[in-house]
Amino acid sequence: FEVDVDPSDSEKGVYPYYMLKEIDEQPNVMRKLSKKYLDENGTPVIDEKLLDVMKNSDRIYIVGAGTSYHAGLVGKKQLETLTGIPTEVHVASEFAYEKPIFSKKPFFLFLSQSGETADSRQVLVNVNKDHYPSLTITNVANSTLSRESDFTLLLDAGPEISVASTKAYTAQIALEAILAKALGEHLGDQRAQDFDLKAQLSLVAQGMQTIVDEKDKIDEISQDYFVNATQAFYIGRGIDYTVSLEAALKLKEISYVHSEGFASGELKHGTIALIEDGTPVIGIITQGFTAGLTRSNLMETAARGAKTLTIVRKSLAQDDDTFVIPDVDELLTPLLSVIPAQLLAYYTSLNKGLNVDLPRNLAKSVTVE
Ligand code: G6P
Repeated sequence: FEVDVDPSDSEKGVYPYYMLKEIDEQPNVMRKLSKKYLDENGTPVIDEKLLDVMKNSDRIYIVGAGTSYHAGLVGKKQLETLTGIPTEVHVASEFAYEKPIFSKKPFFLFLSQSGETADSRQVLVNVNKDHYPSLTITNVANSTLSRESDFTLLLDAGPEISVASTKAYTAQIALEAILAKALGEHLGDQRAQDFDLKAQLSLVAQGMQTIVDEKDKIDEISQDYFVNATQAFYIGRGIDYTVSLEAALKLKEISYVHSEGFASGELKHGTIALIEDGTPVIGIITQGFTAGLTRSNLMETAARGAKTLTIVRKSLAQDDDTFVIPDVDELLTPLLSVIPAQLLAYYTSLNKGLNVDLPRNLAKSVTVE
């Protein structure tokens, strides 16, 4: 089969590592997705047959591993907000063996950059045995998951070579938003109809560009607080909590800093015991109704010696915030709040002299269960 890949996509060019190249490509990935899946009027261009099948389902089950699982957590929020269909997100390796109770008309959404992850495929094999409908969102045309599910939506993000996933995460979130809008419109949902995703994705692309242009500042913060850190925490509530899981995963996998993402309010129920002098704690704050609570949770850690930092949307920002990200629709804030975290992981790995693209013990695509 033929794959539509520009050979230059697979070369590093001026970049020392693929990861930095792939982080930098994200504004363009957003523009490409918008162009491919939204027409001039901003109406989603998604297979009607797929929307009919999804419309008839009473519950959506999202399945993924690693970063794709984290993209699914954001997708749940988008789908539930714009379609009203209850949505569950499952870690593929658990789902295959601890099968949840299915609703009467389940629909399965697989998220996989590679389309080859064995844990996810095992779930799909079972889903197909039961003749349930499925969609795979993947970056690789003709991959196993794409071939074996009923429908496929391609990310078209260009090859992702660095083991740590960056542009596939943001592409998955953007495409989930497009799917949620399409399905919501199909169901006659007013919020979905009013959601000007085309304009929003354009704002996201611009916003990503302004953040990646602040690389030097992130490099400095990495040197000041992360290179010598033995542990770090990301905290947030709601959608910001889901991003904190992905942000912490980035730091673990390539910088070898033990890090965790926590629901801000949960930290005090045990984990706060780990805070020591200088432990970095980063609060992600993009929702007005939880901002004050997360800020007070940050202060609780500061009182125990933590070095607190923040990733905050502009309309909620205060003078001493660390990273201020542009304002976009609340269903899309992860597309921006994750970027400083990706760059922080990148620079911490680089400043520690590690091989950013090929971290120890990890593989880009895990084809064993
Ligand atoms: C591996 C990679 C992760 C990735 C996960 C799922 O563990 O190291 O970066 O998120 O697989 O991969 P997939 O291709 O299914 O998205």
